[in-house]
Amino acid sequence: MLSALFEYANEGIIVSDKNGKIVIANPTVEKQFGYEVEMLIGRSIEELVPESVSNDQVKFEQEKLASPRPRAMGKGIDLFGQRKNNSVFPVEMSVSLFETSEGKYLMYFIVDITERKKQELEIKSAQEEIIQLNVYLEKRVIERTKELDDANTELARTKAEVIQSFNKERELNELKSRFVTTASHEFRTPLATILSSVSLIGKYNEPNDEEKRMKHINRIKLSVTHLTEILNNFLSLGKLEEGIVSNNPEPIILDDFIKSLIDDNRTLLKKGQLVKYKHIKGVTAIYLDKYLFHSILLNLISNAIKYSPENKTIQITTKAQNQKLTLCVIDQGMGIPATDQKNLFDRFFRAKNVENIQGTGLGLNIVKKYAELMHGEIIFDSTEGVGTTFQLEFPLS
Ligand SMILES: Nc1ncnc2c1ncn2[C@@H]1O[C@H](COP(=O)(O)OP(=O)(O)O)[C@@H](O)[C@H]1O
Ligand SMILES: [Mg+2]
Repeated sequence: MLSALFEYANEGIIVSDKNGKIVIANPTVEKQFGYEVEMLIGRSIEELVPESVSNDQVKFEQEKLASPRPRAMGKGIDLFGQRKNNSVFPVEMSVSLFETSEGKYLMYFIVDITERKKQELEIKSAQEEIIQLNVYLEKRVIERTKELDDANTELARTKAEVIQSFNKERELNELKSRFVTTASHEFRTPLATILSSVSLIGKYNEPNDEEKRMKHINRIKLSVTHLTEILNNFLSLGKLEEGIVSNNPEPIILDDFIKSLIDDNRTLLKKGQLVKYKHIKGVTAIYLDKYLFHSILLNLISNAIKYSPENKTIQITTKAQNQKLTLCVIDQGMGIPATDQKNLFDRFFRAKNVENIQGTGLGLNIVKKYAELMHGEIIFDSTEGVGTTFQLEFPLS
């Protein structure tokens, strides 16, 4: 049985003495290496498995002659066998020590792992293919994701555009219908005033009626100014909505500009009201868009006059400093209720304490938009019953 085991084992079995000289080999070794067994006797195991002797494991076994213990070697190390015809093939080899009365021997089991290596290679190349495929797929996924993202962004942009133009269209429509309502409402009072003043003037034809005539002429002027303001504001808003208002700075001499504007608004003043102007500091020759600046000032000054009682002074100040122009319109009027202040710049918004005074609630909305167009900023401070200060700041450059 033992000799059959030796004869028919699938592993090549070689026994060498402690110097590595082959003592015996089985027929499988013959098939594996192409040598006849007799030719191998006395040769070194290294002739069959070239790197085996220099391998640490064999050395270790050879040195450790005291306590033999079977042990696989070459696992993970590429050992190879060399045939008689010099061709090579991969092997897995295990080695163990044993001792007889004649001395110590080494026993080698040699397995031809050509097939296994081939399969390993195939698996490896299949794995590599899978990895490459994965890399490719991942790349495609990233590309497709980006395409989708782009498409989504584009879609969102288009949607935003559609919504925006829809909203704009709706706002314009609202504005137009609001204009019709406001115009029919706001125009009635000044037109009625004009009508009654004109018919009264017709009756005052005595020389000493001069004062009365003047009073009614002033009323007519005031009413016309008010009508013009309403029309101008609607016109400005329409232009703003269409996006055709632009900022074109030109040289302006501050004091001339503001003084003539105050002059133009004399007719608005109530009895005893006064508008004062003071340039506090810095240059007075500046660059600003004349039309926008004029509209802003007109709205602020007419508000200050409109929302202040008789005999009160309105103070305008300018200051050019630190590359900034600061303009203040300070009144001692009715002020703005604290709860209304946050909505003050909203379109059509009017505070609850001005119900009996004519207005559309458009002026400040336009002022703010114009100021923004001019890269300026507007803030205000107000106490009901004490007064209001509007402050504008423009960059000087
Ligand atoms: N100087 C001011 N003093 C008190 N309230 C003001 C002053 N300026 C503006 N307001 C308040 O802000 C509101 C909006 O002003 P504005 O847009 O010019 O509209 P309008 O003057 O046509 O009412 C006014 O209705 C008023 O309530
Ligand atoms: Mg106003």
